[in-house]
Amino acid sequence: MNPIASELNDIITQGNEHIYEMLSNVGKELFFPKGILSQGAEAKEKAHKFNATIGMATEKGRTMHLSSIMAMVKGLAPRQALTYAPSFGILPLRETWRNALYSKNPSLAGKEISIPVVTHAITHGLSVVSDMWVDPGDVIILPDKMWGNYNLIFSVRRGARIVHYSLFDDHGKFNLEAFETCLQSQSKDRQKIIVMLNFPNNPTGYTVSPGEADRIVEIMEKVAQKGTNVLAVTDDAYFGLFYEDDAIKESIFARLVGRDPRLLAIKLDGATKENFVWGLRIGFITYGGFFKGDSEKPYDALEKKTAGAVRGSISSASHLSQEIVLKSMQSETYRSEKMEKFLIMKERAQEVKRVLEDLKYQEAWDVYPFNSGYFMCLNLKTVEAEPLRVHLLEKYGVGLISLGKADLRVAFSCLEKEDVQELFDTVFQGIKDLEQ
Ligand SMILES: Cc1ncc(COP(=O)(O)O)c(C=O)c1O
Repeated sequence: MNPIASELNDIITQGNEHIYEMLSNVGKELFFPKGILSQGAEAKEKAHKFNATIGMATEKGRTMHLSSIMAMVKGLAPRQALTYAPSFGILPLRETWRNALYSKNPSLAGKEISIPVVTHAITHGLSVVSDMWVDPGDVIILPDKMWGNYNLIFSVRRGARIVHYSLFDDHGKFNLEAFETCLQSQSKDRQKIIVMLNFPNNPTGYTVSPGEADRIVEIMEKVAQKGTNVLAVTDDAYFGLFYEDDAIKESIFARLVGRDPRLLAIKLDGATKENFVWGLRIGFITYGGFFKGDSEKPYDALEKKTAGAVRGSISSASHLSQEIVLKSMQSETYRSEKMEKFLIMKERAQEVKRVLEDLKYQEAWDVYPFNSGYFMCLNLKTVEAEPLRVHLLEKYGVGLISLGKADLRVAFSCLEKEDVQELFDTVFQGIKDLEQ
């Protein structure tokens, strides 16, 4: 093992041995190399005559660039737009995102979390988590309605075993009983379980209530207290888009931090969906654990391992994207801009609810509970989802997503409010066509 990795492992173990136990074999081996990067950083400080360390190009002391590129980038210097960012991400963005986490999640008050490490959006963040914390054969607990890419990220790439519980009970509430049973049975005779929590949920658009969130946390805590290490990964891709009173308005991550030595929470979130910059590919990984004494050192060690995983996969996330997201977050109008978009999305969600109240649809589908996010999902009663999807596309030019046998996902995030009625009437008509 590399001596730097072993030093980081010692620091983590001193802070909390169970967190060390939870690392995958790759995670235990990970470290942030000192080589070129640290020599370059040293030279940046001290090489006042010639600095010929880093694989970038300069001209008269400035970042070399093509004018045709910089002509398209207003408000940023070539140094900000074009140079490599650190593998950790640029510090001002990491700090700004951390401050925002505290203000968006009041239950974090007084709790210590790591400085977020920047990833190439959440998908890459999940892959980093998968490398660092998941070994082949590990169990990942997920609801039966989930984002399909978890399968590629955890099962195909890392050989984990996804185990499902049913997301909803018969009353259209989060199925606490199924969740608890699943966790209890999977934790029996296992040293570690991984639980993915995704609210607002893709594909249903469901977010739990504060009461349900409390119970979820208690159930996880109970498993941890019985001696199984629990890694709680929250995928907060659609964070903030909570439209109804019953939805909790903060990440469940905030409730999980510091609960039990055997419970480590990892928050994955990003500017991609939250700030409507999907293609800029900016995400974050933040840790919230329980440590003996000072948490700064073990968090720092975890950040270094995480940055090592970033370095070994994509080297670093786009500097240009990081600067754009940072400048936007620092702008005076940032909050009001976000509020404006939030209200548009909320109006659409409310319109979907209003339209779906029509009793005529009852014979055709049930609606899964939704109160947040970009999506909602229909459970079809009389026809299968895939033939209906193809029919709607070919006959009416309407594109939706079929999931499994009977579920049809609607991204109302892409629908104007005025078009909601027509969309569902078209789906209804499409079903009638197929029933004949
Ligand atoms: C639940 C969930 N997590 C993560 C992602 C990916 O997000 P990103 O674009 O930040 O990689 C998606 C995108 O569809 C998603 O639905």
